[in-house]
Amino acid sequence: MRRKQKFCWDRLTLGVCYYPEHWSPDLWPDDLRRMKENGIETVRVAEFAWSIFEPEEGRFSFDLFDRFLDLAQQENMKVIFGTPTAVPPVWLTEKYPEVLNSRKDGVLFRHGMRRHYNYNSGTLHRLASRIVEKVAEHYGRRPCLVGWQIDNELNCEINEFYSESDHLEFRNFVMEKYKSLDRLNEAWGNVFWNQTLNSWDQVFLPRPTINDMANPHVMLDFKRFISESAIRFCKMQSDILARYVKEGDFITTNGMFGNLDNHKMMDTCLDIYTYDSYPNFAYGLSEKPGENRTLNDRKWSRHLTEVRSICPHFGIMEQQSGANGWNTRKGAPAPKPGQMMLWSMQSIMHGADYVSFFRWRTAVMGTEMYWHGILDYDNCDNRKLAEVKKIYKRVQAVQEVAGAGYEASFALVRDYDNIFDSEIDMWHGQVADSSETEIFAGAQLTHTPMDVVYMRKETDGKGLKNYKLLIYPHGEILSQETCRTLEEYVSQGGCLVIGARTGQKDGDGHCVMRRMPGILAALTQTAVEEFTFLGPDDAGTDMEWNGECVETGIFNDILTPAGPQAKVLAVYGSSYYAGKPALIETKAGKGRVLHFGGTFTRENVKAFFKYTEIMEPYSDIIQLPEECEIGVRKKDGKEYIFVLNYSKKPVEIVLKTAMTDMDLRETVEGKAVLEPYETKVYLKD
Ligand code: GAL
Repeated sequence: MRRKQKFCWDRLTLGVCYYPEHWSPDLWPDDLRRMKENGIETVRVAEFAWSIFEPEEGRFSFDLFDRFLDLAQQENMKVIFGTPTAVPPVWLTEKYPEVLNSRKDGVLFRHGMRRHYNYNSGTLHRLASRIVEKVAEHYGRRPCLVGWQIDNELNCEINEFYSESDHLEFRNFVMEKYKSLDRLNEAWGNVFWNQTLNSWDQVFLPRPTINDMANPHVMLDFKRFISESAIRFCKMQSDILARYVKEGDFITTNGMFGNLDNHKMMDTCLDIYTYDSYPNFAYGLSEKPGENRTLNDRKWSRHLTEVRSICPHFGIMEQQSGANGWNTRKGAPAPKPGQMMLWSMQSIMHGADYVSFFRWRTAVMGTEMYWHGILDYDNCDNRKLAEVKKIYKRVQAVQEVAGAGYEASFALVRDYDNIFDSEIDMWHGQVADSSETEIFAGAQLTHTPMDVVYMRKETDGKGLKNYKLLIYPHGEILSQETCRTLEEYVSQGGCLVIGARTGQKDGDGHCVMRRMPGILAALTQTAVEEFTFLGPDDAGTDMEWNGECVETGIFNDILTPAGPQAKVLAVYGSSYYAGKPALIETKAGKGRVLHFGGTFTRENVKAFFKYTEIMEPYSDIIQLPEECEIGVRKKDGKEYIFVLNYSKKPVEIVLKTAMTDMDLRETVEGKAVLEPYETKVYLKD
């Protein structure tokens, strides 16, 4: 299922993020010349430069970026211009503190970081829309401009908002949604612990409570509200830009962050989506204790898969080009020789047709002075710049890949209600995180390329029919629309796999008073008799499936057949429910549904892939070790097969059929060795 988008790059190109305001203008000509020499054709600028454009309220100055754009034009450098709203200036936040975001207890977040504003202040909307309009009006016709980036990373740094304006706007949001207080009280389950509201002005966003707990149903609406607020802010900017952008230029923003329906933002505000890819996070900052490290930087393929679901042909606005780290964050290793190439090819393999590095030169001051760019402080040519040049050559060798679609064997199904709920509800979160991580790992390690699809109003069963298999691991909140879409998908021949706790809740996040899978039971012809998390004593609980023992994960629903088509495929092998159904298959229309009582693990995912015959779809043409990821982009009947070695050791692969090595432009077959971090692109036509 390919989603609409209004802009696509027609060539693969490289870019870089540049901050003219951070450097002496004497450096600009040399910087631009060296960028061009090394294959960089586009720069992104200005996303934090509000106080350069408006140094005092109502006084505008365009001189600095005019001079820079004159130079860029001379050098034939293309420019993506940022609307500078990510950091409202000091004069603004001091005079109008109501624009600031705040902690839950009401203490304002003061100046010093970025993204300190809230989306709902009328003052912020007035001043932000004015600066966006001024900048768009002034620079929009510049021939060197090719596109606009709105703000920077909406919902990054912080994605919770508790300012006065947010409380007030939340009140409007729920009034509009529920119309009556009775309905609101019911939806929020307010009879529980005396939360019943007598008037609309008793509605607040979550506030500090004992143990910092909040009503789960309020939290669900809170997340939906933040998402709507961010999209409204983005739309305000996109509507202004639309009046000034030149024909052919695009409007984008760089994502992808939480509490935000990125798909809706794409549909309502953007022409193309861009993403900031920092695979080095895998080696330091975000590693959770005890987290399975087998995939490291390869885990970024999961984010890129997710981005592809928002926008099939996307761009990378910030691609890691140095060690990451802030002065306030732990250090992380610099990319090793070959890793910048590896990560760029990872992005391209997953659908990026534009890759822009962050940043040209490391800042010599400020919070980010250890977030390294291509060049270091000394400004000398270095091995990272040499690698950029190699990436440029590489991009020329695979140029025809631009616009090709990614080929997936199956899709993981997600939706925002369940994502938001799983972030609030730990029971839900535990099963969802564990299964989604493991499905991705299972797909990676068996070389079975995957997509992600989102259940939205716009998703229809027909659009899904290209996928032989859909896995909707834990659709706890199940809507009638989703059920209808899944039924349509199955009736047309699809195979749907669902896991534990499906259909437990309604759209308000209440548990429904019927057996799971709730409203999906008409399709699955199954019922859940009983359920349990697995404790330390239950380790090794598994199911017997086709004579094999297969893991059932961290949570088990004990199933029972509830219709004539339901056929038990596997029973639990241990615990007090040994012998009870763990997996039931039901045929419906031309397709079937597999109701699995457990959560997914990389091991049981393999069993599902084998059973549904989707595992390793390229095994007849290429044999790969676990260390390698495969991804295939396809255009005009030609398949571009990417093989990426994430390992620091050489690995051997076998081409079982003759293919063209796109770099060598030679036909190759048989054994090949991929050096540490080496990547290959083969053409099969
Ligand atoms: C990104 C952000 C950049 C820069 C970079 C390194 O998230 O968009 O502006 O901050 O991280 O921290």
